[in-house]
Amino acid sequence: MSQYIPNIPTNCLAKKVVLITGGANGIGSSLVTQCLEQGANVCIGDLDNISGERLLKQCCEKYRPEEEDMPPRAIFQTTDVTDYPSVLALFDLAFKTYKRIDHVVSAAGIVEIGNWFDTSLTLETVRQTPTHKVMDVNLLGSMYVTRIASVYLRHNRGSNCDRSILLFSCVSGFKESPSLFIYQASKHGVTGLMRSLRNYISSPYKHYLRINTVCPWVTQTDSIKKVEAQWKQADLPINTSEQVATVATGVLADQSLNGTSMFVEGGRAWEIERNIERLESEWLGDEPSKALAAGQGLLDDGSIWTAPERPRKKSTISVGVPPGVPLDKLNGLALANGVNGMSNGLANGVH
Ligand SMILES: NC(=O)c1ccc[n+]([C@@H]2O[C@H](COP(=O)([O-])OP(=O)(O)OC[C@H]3O[C@@H](n4cnc5c(N)ncnc54)[C@H](O)[C@@H]3O)[C@@H](O)[C@H]2O)c1
Repeated sequence: MSQYIPNIPTNCLAKKVVLITGGANGIGSSLVTQCLEQGANVCIGDLDNISGERLLKQCCEKYRPEEEDMPPRAIFQTTDVTDYPSVLALFDLAFKTYKRIDHVVSAAGIVEIGNWFDTSLTLETVRQTPTHKVMDVNLLGSMYVTRIASVYLRHNRGSNCDRSILLFSCVSGFKESPSLFIYQASKHGVTGLMRSLRNYISSPYKHYLRINTVCPWVTQTDSIKKVEAQWKQADLPINTSEQVATVATGVLADQSLNGTSMFVEGGRAWEIERNIERLESEWLGDEPSKALAAGQGLLDDGSIWTAPERPRKKSTISVGVPPGVPLDKLNGLALANGVNGMSNGLANGVH
């Protein structure tokens, strides 16, 4: 069983600094409130400055600093996650105000715009470049936030200080969602970003940070207005934004969690990554699973991909078949070059 039950002791985020993008509405705003409730200071970034300012006012009235000369418990800045300098400015504000950042949550997200694959598209209309805003907000925005977080979270940290990044993926991050073509691609991307980073970023020799994702199913916010009535009529599970925020708070507070994806349905959460890994030989087969493990072992921490290219000596050896050689001449040429035989000392086309 992979059920995840959040453990949230009172004040579990006391004095922590949490930066939340997309924090002005929906799940993000519930998370803002819960983090404040648990003792954190919160920096909210969102494109929606009206909701953001309104939330800020409510938060500052309810949650006050311990002493007069301390910074407010919550701050807000209008932020566009698709704009790198705008995201940087949000981190700067949090860092300047609180002198450090402990947890970063990327919750900003939008749903599908139009239909990229509309069957009524013609040779004429397909010439118009479609909008990639969904990709920009959901995936590029998460990538910007994660990159900048990986640096800011490492500064002004105490010894043994827990720091983490939490990304908002979706059920569409691991399951097909008909007609949410670009949204699904973006959320698969978010899950992929977390998977690609979870070993690297958590290494004590690299960034030493945790990274996790939350993958909510249908949650009662403005995003799901189109399906809400039918969903309820069918009596399918539906989350409140507070329930999803509780799972997120639990993940932020639990120092043992890294590399997880928490699927949230009807208020309950299920971790999916461990079972995908554990059952690989069943859904993929024993042999390919072993081959994959050997390949993964060889690639190890992946530094082979990011290591700087070593300058190569210019070779005088010509390799392969020149372009445009007809097929019937190919065998003779290949044999002459020893490509098949490898036994005549001319393997790899050595002349
Ligand atoms: N509601 C659901 O059913 C559901 C399900 C799965 C995943 N999610 C994900 O959870 C997260 C929160 O969703 P929600 O339902 O609370 O949505 P929401 O629309 O209520 O809130 C999203 C917030 O993101 C902000 N935002 C949009 N574009 C932005 C940009 N460019 N820069 C900064 N902020 C921007 C919006 O202003 C809004 O405040 C999203 O990533 C969403 O994809 C939601």
